[in-house]
Amino acid sequence: MKFFLDTANVEDIRKANDMGIICGVTTNPSLIAKEGRDFKQVVAEIASIVDGPISGEVKATTTDAEGMIREGREIARIHRNMVVKIPMTVEGLKACHTLAAEGIKVNMTLIFTANQALLAARSGAAFVSPFVGRLDDISVRGTDLISEVAEIFHAHGIRTEIIAASIRHPMHVTECALAGADIATVPYKVIEQMTRHPLTDQGIEKFRKDYEAVFGN
Ligand code: G3P
Repeated sequence: MKFFLDTANVEDIRKANDMGIICGVTTNPSLIAKEGRDFKQVVAEIASIVDGPISGEVKATTTDAEGMIREGREIARIHRNMVVKIPMTVEGLKACHTLAAEGIKVNMTLIFTANQALLAARSGAAFVSPFVGRLDDISVRGTDLISEVAEIFHAHGIRTEIIAASIRHPMHVTECALAGADIATVPYKVIEQMTRHPLTDQGIEKFRKDYEAVFGN
């Protein structure tokens, strides 16, 4: 499983990129709004930092296929790595179909069932984003959805990549990797949490003490 960073915060993106662990970035209208910066400017800056797929979503107020297609083309023009993120609706599928036929990569988002993922894949989406945490929020096991989608895509030779989204903690990451997600898009905080273990800290401290006792610092 590969990692994308789920943020529009360029400092966090630089930190994760410096570790060499991410190969893409996803944004959404909430994450863009949180930074309070111009959409095109921020995604262009992200694309200059990370050399991999960068998802930029159509405006949250655009609901018709024509509008999404128009915006999708504009997003694709920002940088060669841009992926157009489109919500899973009938209009969204129409937009996905048209953009994919033009060679523009689409990430169908707000996926909550295996059927939605299957439809998105058939309409030409390069990526589907099932939301794990938001299903957990309503007492539905989000990682079960990842397993179902992975099994279906494998059984039918579908090459659309599964991005496990709405990742809230390190266990989600492990479970999504086991369930067969191609990518997990994670907030920087979760990356930090994943790096830590108390025995690692204790081990570093013991090595330091033992070394200093003999050699000084
Ligand atoms: O980018 C979509 C997704 O990752 C949102 O996560 O935590 O708002 O459910 P969350």
